[in-house]
Amino acid sequence: MEIVQRKTLKEKPKEGAALGFGRYFTDYMFTMKYTAAEGWHGAKIVPNEPQSFDLGTSIFHYAQGIFEGMKAFRQPDGSVCVFRPEENWARMNRSAERMCIPTFPAELAQEGLEELLRIEKDWIPKERGTALYIRPTIVATQVMLGVHASAEYLFFIILSPVGSYYAHGLEPTKLLVEDFFVRSAIGGTGEAKCIGNYAASMKAGELAERKGFDQVLWLDAAEKKYVEEVGSMNIFFVLGGEVVTPALVGSILPGITRKSCLTILREKGYRMSERRISVGEVISAIEDGTLSEAFGTGTAAVISPVGLIRYREKDYQIGGGKMGEITQMLYDEITGIQYGELPDPRGWRKTVRV
Ligand code: COI
Repeated sequence: MEIVQRKTLKEKPKEGAALGFGRYFTDYMFTMKYTAAEGWHGAKIVPNEPQSFDLGTSIFHYAQGIFEGMKAFRQPDGSVCVFRPEENWARMNRSAERMCIPTFPAELAQEGLEELLRIEKDWIPKERGTALYIRPTIVATQVMLGVHASAEYLFFIILSPVGSYYAHGLEPTKLLVEDFFVRSAIGGTGEAKCIGNYAASMKAGELAERKGFDQVLWLDAAEKKYVEEVGSMNIFFVLGGEVVTPALVGSILPGITRKSCLTILREKGYRMSERRISVGEVISAIEDGTLSEAFGTGTAAVISPVGLIRYREKDYQIGGGKMGEITQMLYDEITGIQYGELPDPRGWRKTVRV
């Protein structure tokens, strides 16, 4: 694969809590292009530097773009693993289909990622709780203002050394149940990881933050009755001893950490189900003491306990504001596999030869 060298390298940030999330970017990126005549072509590693685009480029106008989030972890023996990348490539191609973006060969994307990680291995932080976040993205690059699928695309992978997604780390999060704005409706783009979903969520997110909440807990668009997801995480509840998460009805992102948690729970023999859960059921279960835990799952957020939700101006504490037993078990299992401290019987760790 062609590698274009840069003249000078960036200064690397200090490790640990100061890394935050998505503040620093590495020296290089992977790129490839799509045109109707050539398909996906021109895969190469180039300096991660500002790019210039014509302002008529369609991504700026109609948000025909998708992305993914993965992480590379430093292992105890110094090797490097990525958590379930094949799942991300498969989901990215499903998002591509939904957004009229041409699908790409997953092997080519994986090859590009591995080459990029080899070059950027010194950027992979070593401390537990940190990782090198991987952001593959596809944007529409045809210069045109008609509302049609672009004829040209840019695929890129950029890397960012990260700590925890929330500034307060593993402290339980506070969620505001949103019953006016909606993230997605059935038939919309909610199950695709498309750029516009995140723009659409910002108004409610900003209002929630102003009130001191970390995130919004979205309800279904049709009835504003059923719990869907958090936007940056899927949501789980422990209700009467059963672990419950909203079923993937079409408006919810099919999270890979969500799927991994369901597998672990099933294999360990927990009572669990994927089904519709009304916000009323959640509130009554908190009130009668049968809801013992709530947590979010995501690549960036990992497993994040939820300590409080507000619904219709009333606050409901969950699990005494502390991390619950099942939340802790899943956190330990998932991160234990990711950091190479636990066996990996399911083959979720993909070793990258750096
Ligand atoms: C992730 O968890 O990787 C995400 O993409 C969610 C968010 C940071 C946008």
